[in-house]
Amino acid sequence: MADVGFIGLGAMGAPMAWNLDDAGFDLLVYNRSDDREDPFESAGIETGASPRDVAERVDVVCLIVSNGAAVEAVLEQDDGLLAGLDEGTTVVQMSTIGYDETMAAAEMVSEAGGTFVDAPVSGTVGPAREGTLVGLASGEESAVEDVWPMLEAMCEPVVNCGETGQGTNMKLFINLLLGDAMGAFAEALVFGRKNGLDLDTMQTVVDNGALDCPLFAGKGELIADGDYEPRFPVDYQFKDLSLALDRAGDVGAPLSQTAAARESFSAARAQGHGSEDMTAVIKHLAETADVSLAEE
Ligand SMILES: NC(=O)c1ccc[n+]([C@@H]2O[C@H](COP(=O)([O-])OP(=O)(O)OC[C@H]3O[C@@H](n4cnc5c(N)ncnc54)[C@H](OP(=O)(O)O)[C@@H]3O)[C@@H](O)[C@H]2O)c1
Repeated sequence: MADVGFIGLGAMGAPMAWNLDDAGFDLLVYNRSDDREDPFESAGIETGASPRDVAERVDVVCLIVSNGAAVEAVLEQDDGLLAGLDEGTTVVQMSTIGYDETMAAAEMVSEAGGTFVDAPVSGTVGPAREGTLVGLASGEESAVEDVWPMLEAMCEPVVNCGETGQGTNMKLFINLLLGDAMGAFAEALVFGRKNGLDLDTMQTVVDNGALDCPLFAGKGELIADGDYEPRFPVDYQFKDLSLALDRAGDVGAPLSQTAAARESFSAARAQGHGSEDMTAVIKHLAETADVSLAEE
């Protein structure tokens, strides 16, 4: 019997699954589209026929797919995870989904007799490859402890956020800060370009002051290079800002900056940049201001 099942071999899931393999866990993988399973199959790693098949063959199933609807589909579809769960199965839900979606998934898993761990991750494709994602685990103490070694194979550090749902709240907290910061950085760069400043000089000023950070350094370099290959796409940043705003409305936290940032990402999507990296939020701002990002 494999030690752990892994569902969702996308940009994040594939490197995370490889890290579990590298750490010595015996893996069973599944992806909706078969082609993403091929490299694993070629390496001699077992593949499942469906989420149900995975759940029937392992005690712990990690899951990282696009959004709440995808998590619901994996759980509830014919041949879904729920159909294969038994009392010994733990589902580790690592996708970024809304608070209500997390709580609904937790309830479904527990009604089907399984155990649920809410464990989204902070970090992008690079940290996923390096095993340095920040794991945001929450749930029943003993369940979180049981899967901790698996989380440590993919994340450094793993943070225990508390009861079920708090991992999701922590993920929404960090991603609203990320989206707000990216939106503000893009606006500032466009302001500078409109005033005749060049990107390199603005970056030097950012990198040598209190705002020096990996986000502005890394994304600034990509914008200067015109590299919008998706690491964390506009569509996902828009999703996460929307999820944060939903939750903020439910609990009564004012998020005016986040609401404005969400609209910038919304405009970028409307202009066809949804599948590009989140840095592409700057494209629609530059177009609106009628400035080029390259030096003239
Ligand atoms: N990219 C990042 O930097 C990053 C960082 C932290 C967290 N996240 C979060 O992690 C999750 C995955 O992100 P990603 O970048 O890996 O996404 P991705 O590359 O777009 O991969 C999405 C995965 O979800 C699967 N999927 C989508 N809908 C499905 C459905 N209805 N049933 C079954 N599988 C389905 C896809 O399967 P197919 O191959 O069949 O389409 C694919 O395996 C998202 O919630 C995202 O917000 C992303």
